Amino acid sequence: MKQRTQVGIVGAGPSGLLLSHLLARQGIDSIVIEDRSRDHVENRVRAGVLEQGTVDTLIEAGLGERMLDEGLIHDGIEIRFNGERHRVDFPSLTDGKRITIYGQGEVVKDLIDARLADGGVIHFEVSATSIHDIDGDAPVIRYRKDEAGHEIACDYIAGCDGFHGICRESVPEGILTGYERVYPYAWLGVLSDSPPAAEEVAYCHSDRGFALLSLRSPAVSRLYLQVAPDEDIEAWPDERFWEELRLRSATKDDGAGIEPGPVLQKGITPMRSYVVEPMRHGRLFLAGDAAHIVPPTGAKGMNLAVADIRYLTEALAAFYRAGDAAGLDAYSTRALRRVWKAQRFSWWMTTMLHLSPDDSPFDRRRQIGELDYVTTSVAAMTALAENYVGLPLDDGGAP
Ligand code: APR
Ligand code: PHB
Repeated sequence: MKQRTQVGIVGAGPSGLLLSHLLARQGIDSIVIEDRSRDHVENRVRAGVLEQGTVDTLIEAGLGERMLDEGLIHDGIEIRFNGERHRVDFPSLTDGKRITIYGQGEVVKDLIDARLADGGVIHFEVSATSIHDIDGDAPVIRYRKDEAGHEIACDYIAGCDGFHGICRESVPEGILTGYERVYPYAWLGVLSDSPPAAEEVAYCHSDRGFALLSLRSPAVSRLYLQVAPDEDIEAWPDERFWEELRLRSATKDDGAGIEPGPVLQKGITPMRSYVVEPMRHGRLFLAGDAAHIVPPTGAKGMNLAVADIRYLTEALAAFYRAGDAAGLDAYSTRALRRVWKAQRFSWWMTTMLHLSPDDSPFDRRRQIGELDYVTTSVAAMTALAENYVGLPLDDGGAP
C-alpha cells in the first residue's frame, strides 16, 4: 500500500506519539509506525517523574485530564546518606515549581487514546522498517505488515524510534558524531504491590551501593538497587531484593520504612549517557532516545523527549504555516543546548550517588562531602532543585 503524509513518524513511544498529537493540533498530518504491539508500548515499565514543563505541555495539549486526577504532586525529594535523611524542597527553591509522579506508560496510554479518538493513524506491529532519500526532497518510509510491503511518502521523517532504532543508523557514515559514557553499574528495578516506603522519592547513598525508593501510586512502589552491569537477575530472588533494599535505605533513627509486597515486575537496566550530534540530517529529524540517552538518576529521559518534541513541533508549524524553515535549521542546536545540561545533571546525580568499582577511599569521602554540601547549602540545593523540576524550555534551558 502507498500512503502519503506530511510528517512520517517512526516509533510510538512518548516522542513519536506526542509529536503526532501536537502536529495534529497545528493542522499537520502524520502517520506513526511502531514495531511493537499497542499493549507492549502501553505496559512497558519506565520512569515516572514529570517535570513541571512536561506537565504544562501535556495540559496545554489537552492531555491533562487523567494525569491531573491520578498523578501525585510532590514538593521535594529525600536524600539519605550516612544513615540520615535530608529533604530538598522544590517550591521554595524554584519559585513554586513541583514534580508529578505519573508513569510513562500512563502518558503513552493517554496519547494513544487521544490520537485514535482524533482519527490519527498509528500502525502497530510493523517490521523491516527502512527509510530512504532523506538527502533528497521526497523521503520515504518502507515497512512490512501482514506479509505485505507498505510505503509512506512524506515531506519530513521524524526518527522517534529510541536508542536501538533504525533512523539514526540510516544517516550516511561520517555525518553524525556520537558521544558516550557507559557506567560500571546497572539498576535492578522492581514494581511492587505495596505502599510506598517513603513519602517522597528517596535517593539513598550507602556503603553497599545506591538504592532508590519511588512510587507509582499510594498502593504501588517502584524500587531500584544498584547492581553490577552484568548482573544475573536469577541471583535476586524477592527476599534478597527486599533485604538489600532495607539495608541500603535504613536510617539511624527509624529504619527504612519498607513493607515488602508482591513483586509485579523485575528487570535490569544498563546505565549509559549518549548524545548524537547533530540531531538532523536532510529531511530526517531525530528526537528523544533516538538522539540521546541519560542514566535514569534524576528521571530526565522522558522529559527531554517532550522538550525535543516541543521544539520540533514549533519548527514544523512555522514551516507549514509560513514557509519559514529557520526553525527547522535551528532545531538541532536548540535541542542540544538543553540536552547537554540535562546530560550534565544526570551524570552528576549518578556519580554522586553510586559506588563505582574504580573509586578510591578518597572518592568515597569526597562523595560524602558533596552530599553534605548539597543538603545544607541553599545555593547547592537550588542548583539541584532547578534541574530536577526541569530547566526552562526557552533559551536552551538557561535558568
Ligand atoms: N520501526 C518502528 N518502530 C520502532 C523501530 C522500527 N524500526 N525501532 C524502534 N521502534 C519503536 C520502539 O518499539 C519504541 O516503541 O520506537 C519506540 C521508541 O520509544 P522509546 O524508546 O520510548 O523512546 P522515546 O519515545 O524517545 O521516549 C523517550 O522513553 O525510553 C524511554 O528513557 C526513555 O523516558 C525516555 C523516553
Ligand atoms: C521512577 O519512579 O521510576 C524513578 C524515579 C526517579 C528516578 C528514576 C526513576 O530518578
